[in-house]
Amino acid sequence: MFKRFRRLRANDTIRDLVRETILTKNDLMYPLFVKQGQKTKVEVASMPGVYQMGIDDIVKECHTLNSLGLNSILLFAIPEVKDSVGSECLCDNSIIAQTIKAIKSELPNMHITTDLCFCEYTDHGHCGILDPNTHSVDNDATLEISAAQALVHAKAGANMIAPSGMMDGIIETLRKTLDENGFENLPIMAYSTKFASAFYGPFRDVAESTPSFGDRRTYQMDIANRLEAIEESLEDEKEGADILMVKPALSFLDIIRDIRNNTNLPIAAYNVSGEYAMLKAAAKAGLIDYDRIMMEKLVSMKRAGANIIITYHAKEAAQILNNQ
Ligand code: PBG
Repeated sequence: MFKRFRRLRANDTIRDLVRETILTKNDLMYPLFVKQGQKTKVEVASMPGVYQMGIDDIVKECHTLNSLGLNSILLFAIPEVKDSVGSECLCDNSIIAQTIKAIKSELPNMHITTDLCFCEYTDHGHCGILDPNTHSVDNDATLEISAAQALVHAKAGANMIAPSGMMDGIIETLRKTLDENGFENLPIMAYSTKFASAFYGPFRDVAESTPSFGDRRTYQMDIANRLEAIEESLEDEKEGADILMVKPALSFLDIIRDIRNNTNLPIAAYNVSGEYAMLKAAAKAGLIDYDRIMMEKLVSMKRAGANIIITYHAKEAAQILNNQ
């Protein structure tokens, strides 16, 4: 009998020796949600283990992450007051700016990537300024205020900016703005291939960013499109992105691989809220081995070609990796 494949599966040691993909804590980025004026931690019903927090709790959480060996966060902010243009995020003392400074004063080595978007800050919940005639997001007006928002993040001490609004030309605009203002060294992680996905549902509960009318299909990508996904990412690379992203991750592993085969830039996979919520719900119902399935999906994202995995599972995964 031909036994070529089973020869290398005989025991742990040989399996470890030939393993091709190894997940490490260095691959993981953990999303955090700061809410202006929040006094206590409030858990999100659909996402057990994920909280809206005030600044003090966010800083505490960063200490916990640090002790687990996790040093990279993706920061989102939820303001107390929203308006049509998202004014809160355009002032130097915005909630995200205050949070960056608070974290950095205690944990200067915490790597803070900021999500740059308007949907959390606008009263209509869309990712930019609306054109009064079409009620669709005005691309160029949104580019202008995105540049202002990026400078707020940069001045507050963010380590990386991640624009997630899917406006055409955003990377070129931000790169130029950052360069002209002395932030040539600040990298941009582009939400380059972001699909108009139903998997963002739970996130919109935590970020309070559900659009009050319509949907995001005039700016986010059609989930059915593969060639356009590659084009989107290559365009962002051309405009100066330092890291590309595919979002969501699980239903889009083919796209991660396609982009991996078309670029030499690092790629991030965003393991989004709906993917997390489904696993939690299945575990609660006693249907799955939670830890093994979680690790299996994170490894799949890395195997597909992602260098960075943005995931709400980061703490749980770090605990497992620390015990190995
Ligand atoms: C937009 C943004 C979204 C997510 C990250 N940034 C939601 C959206 O586009 O509606 C989704 C993340 C997740 O579902 O975990 N600022």
